[in-house]
This record gives sequence, structure tokens and C-alpha cells, in this order.
Amino acid sequence: MTRKLFVTTALPYANGNFHIGHIMEYIQADIWVRFQRMQGHQVHFVGADDAHGAPIMIAAEKAGKTPQEFVAAIAAGRKQYLDGFHISFDNWHSTDSPENTQLAQDIYRALRRNGLIYSRHIEQFFDPVKEMFLPDRYIKGECPRCGAKDQYGDSCEVCGAVYAPTELKNPYSTLTGATPVMKSSEHYFFQLSSPRCIEFLQQWTQDGKLQPEVANKVKEWFATDDSGAGGLSDWDISRDAPYFGIEIPDAPGKYFYVWLDAPVGYLASLKNYFDKGGPKAKYGEVRSFEDFIADPEVEQYHFIGKDITYFHTLFWPAMLHFSGRKTPNNVFVHGFITVSGEKMSKSRGTGIDPLKYLSLGMNAEWLRYYIAAKLNARVEDVDFNPDDFVARVNSDLVGKYVNIASRAAGFIAKRFGGRLTAAISADGEQLLATLRAGAAEVGRLYEEREYGKAVREIMLLADRVNEYVDQNKPWELAKQEGQDARLHEVCSVCIEAFRLLTIYLKPVLPALAANVEAFLKVEPLSFADAQRRLGEHVIGTYQHLMQRVDPKLLDALFEPPAPAAPALPGGEAIAPTIGIEDFAKVDLRIAKIVNCEHVEGSDKLLRLTLDVGEGRTRNVFSGIKSAYKPEDLIGKLTVMVANLAPRKMKFGVSEGMVLAASHADEKAHPGVFVLEPWPGAEPGMRVR
Ligand code: MSP
Ligand code: ZN
Repeated sequence: MTRKLFVTTALPYANGNFHIGHIMEYIQADIWVRFQRMQGHQVHFVGADDAHGAPIMIAAEKAGKTPQEFVAAIAAGRKQYLDGFHISFDNWHSTDSPENTQLAQDIYRALRRNGLIYSRHIEQFFDPVKEMFLPDRYIKGECPRCGAKDQYGDSCEVCGAVYAPTELKNPYSTLTGATPVMKSSEHYFFQLSSPRCIEFLQQWTQDGKLQPEVANKVKEWFATDDSGAGGLSDWDISRDAPYFGIEIPDAPGKYFYVWLDAPVGYLASLKNYFDKGGPKAKYGEVRSFEDFIADPEVEQYHFIGKDITYFHTLFWPAMLHFSGRKTPNNVFVHGFITVSGEKMSKSRGTGIDPLKYLSLGMNAEWLRYYIAAKLNARVEDVDFNPDDFVARVNSDLVGKYVNIASRAAGFIAKRFGGRLTAAISADGEQLLATLRAGAAEVGRLYEEREYGKAVREIMLLADRVNEYVDQNKPWELAKQEGQDARLHEVCSVCIEAFRLLTIYLKPVLPALAANVEAFLKVEPLSFADAQRRLGEHVIGTYQHLMQRVDPKLLDALFEPPAPAAPALPGGEAIAPTIGIEDFAKVDLRIAKIVNCEHVEGSDKLLRLTLDVGEGRTRNVFSGIKSAYKPEDLIGKLTVMVANLAPRKMKFGVSEGMVLAASHADEKAHPGVFVLEPWPGAEPGMRVR
């Protein structure tokens, strides 16, 4: 039976580029999706950017962009990663979209009709300067226990105390430095603690579909103590304006908390794909999105990391179920990728930058293979170890698998005109039968997401083929009289075996498999092709399929990037290096301020009359009124840019520029300081 599958990965926050953790998740899901497609199943594999929320709103503001511009810039960078690592999403969308707005609001209305939404007032910190409620992460202050300064609102990094943001001493907003005030506001809640929710979720999470360790974790979340405390709490799903999100129907100034509309983005991306006609073009699917998603035969799966389990095993199924929708068939949770045993840091990332990996010319399929070899169906972290990486790729992938083709293809081409023979004797048939029989087990392991075991199984089969090659030594047969038929047979067995191994590895190595298909002159391989045989097929010419990893590449990959410019007191990194010839273009001269006066109608500028020894004076406007009185400056020497093109300003033409120092963030660090040469300098002298 053809399965109909709807598969997603978690939707990445649109506030940064992909890191290796994202790529690992996509590789895991992509392997599963490609395996299902190779089984002849219909798969709709979609992703989207998770665009909403306060952090993105604030990051956009810092970057001087609207949130929409900000997330669009991030979205524009996605393709190079996804293509580069052969991730085969059918659609990529955004949670900041009309589809998502409609679906999120529909789901909310249905939950409200179902009596699971209520509102009440809560007190929260409010930044009176920015006029916004502050998420906890934007509040700092002194630890209530040890008094350490600049501690976050939830716990102290110095003494480890855990507390509420309201307990901080001398709290301040990290956005403005203002002292936050407590302010009350109406919030909307999803009643997760209601008996019918609990009952449904108990059933949904404990019916055996979830990975055992996930089901156990969820059990802990349900647990209440003897007094009945603990257990599931109601979920605060609203945020006050200003917020980058979706408006809550009938609640002016209120927006859905980002985690409400984020998973709805799975549906929004699928709907967008349906509305564009994707499923029709690919599978002749004529139903609407709403018909499709309501079909009990459609299976829905989400690949996610362990950190977002709560949202996907509790909130999301409850939202769907109680709004009258179908719930996911399963949520597949993976662990985190570490690098040489080290956790990825939010600020530094890991030693592996996915784009750097690609730009070094490293083969994306090395990484796909390596990650596959390390993955299992449990929630275990996966460690990237450079030596292990080189060993697995070079000795397994290239040494055991790719080499089979390179050892046999030349003889088939040179001695037999590219034609394989169907006359295979018992030993060859036996080997091929063993390989064909592997399809069921390998398929089962892919289905179960036991990729490490699948790869091991495939490599054991490759070992069998290599034993056969070593026993028959085609390179020696080729030199012997009267061994043509045997040579032809042995090489044909090798090519057929290579085709079978390629089928099994194709979910992991799609680009390499495509090259093999071209070399063998066969249609795209599916799992069913493992039960067919090539017979007297004519193959093409072999071209090298995969290089070994040069360990030097890993050194390059891990070489730290050029040190970032240190944070300077001036708040601004040093500009890119220029040559002396660039500097020489700027003609700096000592100038005497012969006159200085206010500029009528300007609260920033002073008008300076400067003498740079030219036999005439220059008129220069300078934005230094906040720092100097005209009489302070008259008669003083300073430095000016003397060859700057004259600039017409509102108050007249400015014939140069006076040099002055200031902080990059003049609001936070006010002050302008005009340069003055040491005694002895004379007007007109060049500064070099
Ligand atoms: N936007 C939310 C998800 C919303 S889903 C409706 C989010 N975004 S994220 O960008 O922080 O993470 C996206 C995915 O990457 C999550 O599944 C997360 O677990 C995964 N990973 C983040 N760091 C990771 C590793 N170091 N290793 C593997 N996966 C990791 O959470
Ligand atoms: Zn402390």
C-alpha cells in the first residue's frame, strides 16, 4: 500500500543562519524521507522559518530593519545550505504568512469555542522607556542571594541560586537600562490542566508511539506530589503589543506567543505547498489541503531536537485535538550534536560552520554518511570527532564501497565493450542472493531511524563483496590465458553488487547514487530494484565517484576564524585595513579657527571660519554645538580634511570637515571632542 506521509523538521528561528545542529536534524529527516520515497510512498516534506517573537523583533530593531525585512534576509540565505547538503524539502515557507495567520486564528477560535481558553490579569515587568513588557531574558539585576551584579532574571551564574525575576535587587532592562516597573495586563491561557486535556495527553503520550525515553520524560511532567502540586500548568499564549506575531482575534493589542503559531507553521507550509499545486504536479493529488490533512490515512511526523519536546508532545497535540484536527502520528526526537565532546555554545557555535565546510570543497555526503553512521532512534547526543570522521569516510565509504566499482568497471569497459554477462555461477549467485536478502533488514532499520545499524549492515555486505573480489582477483584473471569468461563473470557480479549497495546507501548518498545511476545507465533506483537484476546490460564509463578526505581539510575546518576585532571602548570595530596610498588621498591640514558662530535654526551645528594657509578662509559647518561654545574655539588650532568635496548644506556650503572624536553610540555615551595639535603646529601644515 502506498503511504501518504507529511513530514517536517522543527522550524528554525529566523534570527540566524543554520548551524551544524540544524543541518544534522535536516540530514536525519531527509534520509528518512528519501528512504520512504524509494519505497514508492508519497511524501510531502516541508519546512519554514519561525519568524515571530520578541527576540527577532529586537534583533531587527538593532539591525535597523523592520522584522519582515530582517527575516526575509535570513530566509534568503537558507537555500545555499539546503541545496549544499542535499536536503530535499518540497516546500519552505514562513510562519509570518497569510496561511499561518489564518490557521493559527482558526485553531484558536476552535479552542475557544471548546471552552479551553480563558483570560486573567497577571503582573509582569514593564520597561517604561521602551513601553513594553519584558521577557525574562531582558531583565538583569543583582542576585538576591549573593549580590552578584548583572545576573539574569531566572538564576545566578555566580552562586547558582534560582529565583523569579521579581526577586532581583536593582533590576534593570537590558534593552534600555531603565528600572522596570510592575504592570498588570490581561493574558490569555490555554487550559492544559483541564481534566479532559490531561486525560487526552496521558493517552496520546503513553500509548507506545513515542520513544521510551520521551514517554518517560513526559510522565515526569504529568507527575504531581502528594499535595496535588506540580503537573501540567495552563499555558500563557498571549503577549502584549509591541510584538512581532499574529493578532489574537477579538483581543486588540494582544498577539499569540510565538510558540502558539510556530507549530501551526507546519500546516501553513503544507497549505502553501498545496495552494501552489505542488502535490498535484508531483503525485496527481487533487484534494485541497484541508481534505488532505483531515484524511485519517495521511501520516504526520515531526523530527525535532530534545529541547523542544514539551511543545511537541503536549501543547501541539492538545491544540490540534481540541480544535477538532488530527494529531501527529509521531514526534521523532533526536539528541544534540557535540563536537569532540563539547557542547555547542549559543554565542560561539561549534567548530563546524556548515558553509565553511562547503566552501572548503568538503563533500556534503561525507557528512551525511558520518552523521548517518552515528545516528540511532534514541535521544542520544551525536559527537562529531574529526579523526573518526576521516576514518569512517576513508576506510568504510571509499575503501569498502566506492572501490568495488573502480576495481571492476575498467575491465568491463576495456575487455567486454561495457556489456555485463548474465552467466553467473553458483558462488556469484550466492553472494548476490545474500545482498538482495539484505534489503528487508536495511529497509526496516531505515524505517526505525536506526541509521547507524543500517550503515553497519550495508558495510558488512560490502565486506562480503570485497572478500569475493579478493578470492577471485580480477587483476590476475585479466593476465591469465583462457580466463576471459571468469573475468567477465566476476566483474559483472561486482557491478551488480555495487548497484545493490548503492540502492541501500541512496537515502544517505543521493548525489553519489545519481552519478552511479548515470554510470550504470539505469533509471533512478528504488528499493524494489534490489529484487531485479541487470542481466546483459551495457554500462557507461566509470568516473571517479568520491575522493578520500584529506585530514588537512579538518584542520582547515576547525581553524578558528580570524580573531574578531576586540570590543573597543569607542564601541566600534576597527575598519578594514587600507594601504598608505589610500591614507595619502586624505589631505589633512592644521587649521586655525579664526571665527566661530551659532547657526540660526540649527541646534547641532556651529559655523567655523578656518585658515589653512591658503591666503583665503574656508567656511565649515561642524556638529559640535552640544559640546562647545563659539568663544571656546576662536583662536584655537585644529585638524581638518582639506580636500573633501564641498558640500551644500541647508545653511550654506561646507568646504571641509573638522576632526572630532565620539563614541559609536552617541546616545548612550554622549560627548564630542575636537582634535587640537600640540603647540608649534602652524596653519596649513599637512598631517601625515
Ligand atoms: N523555532 C523553534 C522550533 C519551532 S518548531 C515549531 C526552535 N528553533 S531553533 O532554531 O532553536 O532549533 C531548531 C531545531 O534545531 C530544533 O529541533 C533544535 O532542537 C535543533 N537543534 C538546535 N541545536 C542543536 C544541536 N546542537 N544539535 C542538534 N539539533 C539542535 O527551537
Ligand atoms: Zn548569586
